[in-house]
Amino acid sequence: MTEQSSETSREQSGGKAAGDVLVLGATGKTGRRVVRRLRGAGRRARAASRSGETRFDWGDRATWPAALAGARAVYLVAPDDPAPVGDFVQEAVAAGVTRFVALSGRGLDRAVEEFGFGHGMAAAERAVRASGVEWTVIRPNNFDQNFDEDLWHAPLRAGRLALPIGDVPEPFVDVEDVAEVAAALLTEDGTRHAGQVYDLSGPRGLTFRAATETIARAAGRAIAYAELTPEEYRAELLAQGVPAEAADALNALFAAHRAGVTVGPADGVRRVLGREPAAFEAYAARAAAAGAWLP
Ligand SMILES: NC(=O)c1ccc[n+]([C@@H]2O[C@H](COP(=O)([O-])OP(=O)(O)OC[C@H]3O[C@@H](n4cnc5c(N)ncnc54)[C@H](OP(=O)(O)O)[C@@H]3O)[C@@H](O)[C@H]2O)c1
Repeated sequence: MTEQSSETSREQSGGKAAGDVLVLGATGKTGRRVVRRLRGAGRRARAASRSGETRFDWGDRATWPAALAGARAVYLVAPDDPAPVGDFVQEAVAAGVTRFVALSGRGLDRAVEEFGFGHGMAAAERAVRASGVEWTVIRPNNFDQNFDEDLWHAPLRAGRLALPIGDVPEPFVDVEDVAEVAAALLTEDGTRHAGQVYDLSGPRGLTFRAATETIARAAGRAIAYAELTPEEYRAELLAQGVPAEAADALNALFAAHRAGVTVGPADGVRRVLGREPAAFEAYAARAAAAGAWLP
């Protein structure tokens, strides 16, 4: 048997190397790290999104069959709109998927019921629970990387982060930890994680003011934190050109944070990986060294 056909036969015959993993949101913060980790471990990962290597669009069902063909596990990053999620999960199972890992959010039940957001993630949780195959849900806190890859990056670079959050601590989680957990859940042999919901946080809570101070120290420059009322925050977002609907969604998110929905460290990283989660300070030092917060 040639080296190549022996590889093919090992992939087709089951065991650790068997089956592709379809990674949704594969150009995003968690998905691209999940792809990197799976491939680094010798697994075949299909990197899917509208602009990804494999084209997948929640809004274009014609893209689903090719993305699913041959996939045995799915990393499910839900769309905001819950409508297509149930059909997708059913189609995935019909195509041969036997395991889902769904990305959700810390405190999702209260977020949906009391604060009116998270409907896409809730639909994903419901759909995988009803799928009839193995599923695991991960519910992370706010990501460390929101400070250098997302919403709070531009304000920090400009020297001022202003939010309506007060002194409520948030145990920010490093997306590297989220991705390592997700990759383990997608590929580990056995069923120890089936039917589990893991809350994923960093090791301790930090106020947004303390997080900003940590980043300023790591970046070696002055960056101010300003506390706003929700009304002031909304006005600032609108002035920055953020659409009203998105500004209201962000205000709902911070209302949930102020109410303590995501407060307090969780043990999910330790339960899955058998080690403590990474500290915010380590993330800040790494991102600062890469030049994240240069003006
Ligand atoms: N940020 C946080 O602190 C945090 C914490 C807990 C949970 N979450 C949840 O995490 C999820 C986001 O995950 P993330 O941060 O890893 O991703 P992300 O960085 O927000 O990127 C979004 C990903 O989704 C893809 N995407 C967007 N629209 C799509 C569509 N119509 N069809 C197919 N793919 C689409 C994007 O790629 P293309 O543009 O190429 O399609 C991209 O890969 C959200 O559900 C959020 O609620 C976030």
